[in-house]
Amino acid sequence: MEKVVSGIRSTGNLHLGNYFGALVNFIKMQHENNCFFFIADYHSLTTHPDPKTLNGNVRNVLSEYLGAGLDPDVATLYVQSDVPEVTELSLLLSMHTYVGELERTTSFKDKIRKHPDNVNAGLLTYPVLMAADILLHRADRVPVGKDQEQHLEMTRKFARRFNTIYGVDYFPESQPYTFGKGLIKVPGLDGTGKMGKSEGNGLYLIDDDKSIRSKVMKAVTDSGPTKPEEPMTEPISNIFKLMEIISPEDTHKFYLDKYNNCEIRYGDMKKQLAEDIITTISPIRERILEIRKDTDYLNKVAREGAEKAKASAQKTLSDVREIMGFSKFK
Ligand code: ADP
Ligand code: TRP
Repeated sequence: MEKVVSGIRSTGNLHLGNYFGALVNFIKMQHENNCFFFIADYHSLTTHPDPKTLNGNVRNVLSEYLGAGLDPDVATLYVQSDVPEVTELSLLLSMHTYVGELERTTSFKDKIRKHPDNVNAGLLTYPVLMAADILLHRADRVPVGKDQEQHLEMTRKFARRFNTIYGVDYFPESQPYTFGKGLIKVPGLDGTGKMGKSEGNGLYLIDDDKSIRSKVMKAVTDSGPTKPEEPMTEPISNIFKLMEIISPEDTHKFYLDKYNNCEIRYGDMKKQLAEDIITTISPIRERILEIRKDTDYLNKVAREGAEKAKASAQKTLSDVREIMGFSKFK
């Protein structure tokens, strides 16, 4: 059985980018693999350190994991900070990580450009903590969206470096995983770029039908193609991409044909897209809202998950300490 590890930061509710980029793959993988899925609350502190919302955000994401279909009886679901062993592994890995390579990470460069007033060391060492999350359970596969590709490359580099320095074959080279379809990027509806919490363009799993309709109808469009098979502008190609991800194949094809024949009516297409999103999301939303109310159940899932994750983490840490030459005084 292969080991699978992944997590999502608890910086707010989950959107369709998180769902189609990561969560659907978690759900598909949980049955055939030994899976560890966690809620990255330490990582949320690099941008959202707020004691008033921290625990609530973690609970929300946990209810979203469960409502979307993760089964705590088959996968280990846990909260990152419930297994603080990960911080020790992160510290140990950081001794073999160069500041220069961290400074060159795209996500770091992005963040310092967008938030020059808060360039904290946690942002710089973000990829080391993420590598520790993955290597803590010696994962073979990591289901993530396209934006995490570079972090996974770094994880493999850190694993190889550790193995080389200590002359062992201990850490695997964890691979990104998406069921052979390539890593996906769910676009936003505001014309450019990806859907994201910080982008403010999210369609959320807990959005009600009315707000989904209104967000989709507001999606940016253009004045339409003027000749057959005209290349699409970015906002239009984003709407088609969302439809390709969410709607049945023939619906997507129907509107693509309309576009290519210059007969497209974006209003009709958006209405259809909104209904298809609602079909996918509304049963999930109902389950999330139910589960959220059940505090005892959430506590139990997190407690039992932490126990299983801790056992796996402690084994790795004990091996790593031995490999690195820490020996116990008896
Ligand atoms: P956000 O970008 O909203 O802050 P995170 O960075 O916490 O979300 O991402 C959690 C997971 O969701 C990662 O695996 C990431 O690759 C995936 N993800 C986030 N946004 C998208 C998107 N627009 N398309 C595809 N995957 C995404
Ligand atoms: N960095 C990931 C994100 O922003 C979240 C994350 C933290 C993660 N640790 C991880 C994903 C380990 C996969 C494996 O989406």
